[in-house]
Amino acid sequence: MQSSRRFSCTFLLFLVIGCASTPRVPVQHVVDTTPAPRLQHVWHEHMQEVLFTQQQLAKRVREMGQEISQDLAVSSAKFSKPPLFLSVLTGSFMFTADLLREIQVPHEVKFIRASSYGSQTQSSGQVSLSVPHLTAQDVLGRTVIIVEDIVDTGRTIHRIQAFLRGLGATNVQVCTLLSKPSRRVVDVAMDYVGFEVEDQFVVGYGLDFDKRYRSLKYIGVLKPQLYVDR
Ligand code: PRP
Repeated sequence: MQSSRRFSCTFLLFLVIGCASTPRVPVQHVVDTTPAPRLQHVWHEHMQEVLFTQQQLAKRVREMGQEISQDLAVSSAKFSKPPLFLSVLTGSFMFTADLLREIQVPHEVKFIRASSYGSQTQSSGQVSLSVPHLTAQDVLGRTVIIVEDIVDTGRTIHRIQAFLRGLGATNVQVCTLLSKPSRRVVDVAMDYVGFEVEDQFVVGYGLDFDKRYRSLKYIGVLKPQLYVDR
């Protein structure tokens, strides 16, 4: 009787040790192949047309990144510090993120906040800048590339260029995804332009109207009835 109890205990002990040391079988995750319901963003209905699709934007941004990289590879030998990309918030956040992933040379990024439109479709003409951490040391002896989502009247770029020159920057370049030449008030030279656009109100891929539409993956033309009466 005692020996059979001892046998049972020993068997249980081996069973426990055996279980603990047995390699775990990978958990089989059940993949739910049921298609997720297609959500139609209400913002899509606010568009008169899609001007640039996600694919067109990605292709152009890749091309711009390659062009800038090649230029920087040639020019960087002249400077002691890596080039600085200065992204103009808020509109260029998405363009900046995609563009910098295409830059093939060492570089740095900083952000500057500029605002002139508020909730209006027409620029107020007054550009306010907010630059928390940018000093002369950040811009001296290097290429500074301002990254914009759109150059419209040109006032914002002009104001930022003046600010940078005031800090002592000597080599300031401009890279903008969109340019609306027909709306220019201030003449500004641009080094890299993604697309030229007509005088239409464009939103998406960072560009907003009244803080909306920035997260759209494409750039679209907003239906005029959504802002003409405002
Ligand atoms: C927009 C855009 C540019 C600027 C261009 O910024 O992002 O920075 O206007 O216009 P301009 O050439 O007429 O100066 P906005 O002032 O609307 O601020 P946001 O980026 O926060 O939307």
